[in-house]
Amino acid sequence: MQSLAEQLAARIARGGPVTVADFMHEAVTHYYANRDPFGRQGDFTTAPEVSQMFGELIGLWCIMVWQMMGAPDKVVLAELGPGRGTLMNDLLRAAGVVPAFVKAADIRLVETSPHLVALQRQTLSGRDVQWCESFDQVPDGPLIVIANELFDALPIRQFIRQDGQWRERMVGLDGDAFCFITGPATEPDLPPELLATAPDGAIVETCDDGRALAAGLGKRLNRQPGFALIVDYGHGRSGTGDTLQAVRHHRFHPVLDQPGLADITAHVDFQALAASAVPARAWGPVDQSDFLRALGIETRAHLLAQAGGDKVAADVMGQLRRLIDPGEMGTLFKALALASPHFPAPPGFVS
Ligand SMILES: C[S@@+](CC[C@H](N)C(=O)[O-])C[C@H]1O[C@@H](n2cnc3c(N)ncnc32)[C@H](O)[C@@H]1O
Repeated sequence: MQSLAEQLAARIARGGPVTVADFMHEAVTHYYANRDPFGRQGDFTTAPEVSQMFGELIGLWCIMVWQMMGAPDKVVLAELGPGRGTLMNDLLRAAGVVPAFVKAADIRLVETSPHLVALQRQTLSGRDVQWCESFDQVPDGPLIVIANELFDALPIRQFIRQDGQWRERMVGLDGDAFCFITGPATEPDLPPELLATAPDGAIVETCDDGRALAAGLGKRLNRQPGFALIVDYGHGRSGTGDTLQAVRHHRFHPVLDQPGLADITAHVDFQALAASAVPARAWGPVDQSDFLRALGIETRAHLLAQAGGDKVAADVMGQLRRLIDPGEMGTLFKALALASPHFPAPPGFVS
């Protein structure tokens, strides 16, 4: 059977260079379809895999926004890109303090990887959960959506400024190896002042799938009461820079090498997501550290530390640092909330 690299090379040899988004889409789809990439044995570790505290606090956040919605008897609780199902599992366990919320929750997991759906089934066995292949399949009704590190996996397009003109960056072939080449002139869909002031050689990025998903969330939240919480790494304002990266076994990997074997991601442009979600109201983004602190992560960490011995306490304090220290995930990762326009600021976001 041909590897993904061979399939992509044959496609490029036949039809010419592909966009960075096409290349990334193929690589990411193949990557997640075949493996459990999380944790020490895998390629990277996400916040819910660092500590149970992350999912627990998001569980409390869900209860609070459900109460802001008037505690409806039924609320769709959807998670987009749920990985191993760890966040949802911790969320539901913590939410057990308010049984009426757990009873009301119609749980939907939106996942494209069959391998990860199987893992989620194991993690959440005993819970009443349904799976969807896209957000469009999530049923109507009062809505709470969670997405941690989904948007960074969605394919981006890249554009490079040359001689005052923007051109799309493409992936072609140099012998047997993939390489970046400069494609046709195109004006990226980004703020005009950013495009006008960028110097020659600058790279900008757009994420069409991310914007379409944010637009879909925005339409729903305008029609039905609800909130969405997006946590990811990225920047609060659209900017310039090449943020495409690949990681394998917890180390950076050349982005175009062996597509499908490494995790390819790009920084999330939160400004673009917030703009796409109008008429829903956007709150934030705020740094992950500020968000988790506002929800009480330090108190939770001390309670967990006191409940165990010295080893547990040291582990919990290490996890806390990992989630909130500025040198770790504290400031690179950010939380953005989208909400029906009439609601005040959700917990963790100041008005
Ligand atoms: C980096 S993992 C994050 C997993 C989990 N949220 C966590 O924090 O541990 C990305 C997740 O998004 C899923 N995914 C990737 N592209 C997707 C898409 N277009 N729609 C839904 N899920 C997708 C992956 O299969 C995986 O579950």
